[in-house]
Amino acid sequence: MAKQTSGLSHEKIETNNFLMIVLILVVLLAGGMVEIVPLFFQKSTTQPIKGVEPYTPLQLAGRDVYIREGCYNCHSQMIRPFRAETLRYGHYSVAGESVYDHPFQWGSKRTGPDLARVGGKYSDEWHRIHLINPRDVVPESNMPAYPWLATTPVNDGTIAAHMGALRKVGVPYTDAQIAGAAAEVKGKTELEATIAYLQVLGLALK
Ligand code: HEC
Repeated sequence: MAKQTSGLSHEKIETNNFLMIVLILVVLLAGGMVEIVPLFFQKSTTQPIKGVEPYTPLQLAGRDVYIREGCYNCHSQMIRPFRAETLRYGHYSVAGESVYDHPFQWGSKRTGPDLARVGGKYSDEWHRIHLINPRDVVPESNMPAYPWLATTPVNDGTIAAHMGALRKVGVPYTDAQIAGAAAEVKGKTELEATIAYLQVLGLALK
């Protein structure tokens, strides 16, 4: 076969590391743009589905506890569209359920069950006992106990600023909601906040 001698021949590309790297980056960039950029503009990934509301101040404070305590290390919040998953947990998760989640809590590590639709599954009282000592309701549980949540008050000094920051990234909190936030969480414990958060998870698509 006649050897190509001019232009961007295959031989030139495969024998030139630098050129190869640049071309690989160009291909990845194009592929990435095509796959990722539309997600920022599609309704299904940027608009909340019907029934999804921004977290109330108490739920938001509970979400902060969830993140601080590292609950996500053992619990995912994403039901995959497989039969085994939907039979166990309910409707698979959709992007429109987490548009107000910054950052989202999807995850894939499941030492414990997925929590994407745990809202309404148990009573507040069950959660109270379970969080203070999981073994009291699930004897074989290896989930850690979080007894301090019951005695730690919610930090009402930071919640308004947190909501303000979320508003900057698109969560539609009103001025009145932000102004009333501190009063709404005042005197509540972190346990009450965590339960309020858990109880709203996944309700929009039950
Ligand atoms: C070390 C891993 C681990 C961590 C960390 C952890 N959990 Fe769990 N969790 C489990 C396991 C295992 C179960 C299943 C047994 C049980 O119900 O206690 C569970 C169960 C649950 C359930 C019941 C789910 C259901 O559908 O029955 C809830 C709610 C829950 N965890 C909330 C939390 C919260 C909130 C935190 C953080 C404060 C947390 N977990 C931290 C392991 C963990």
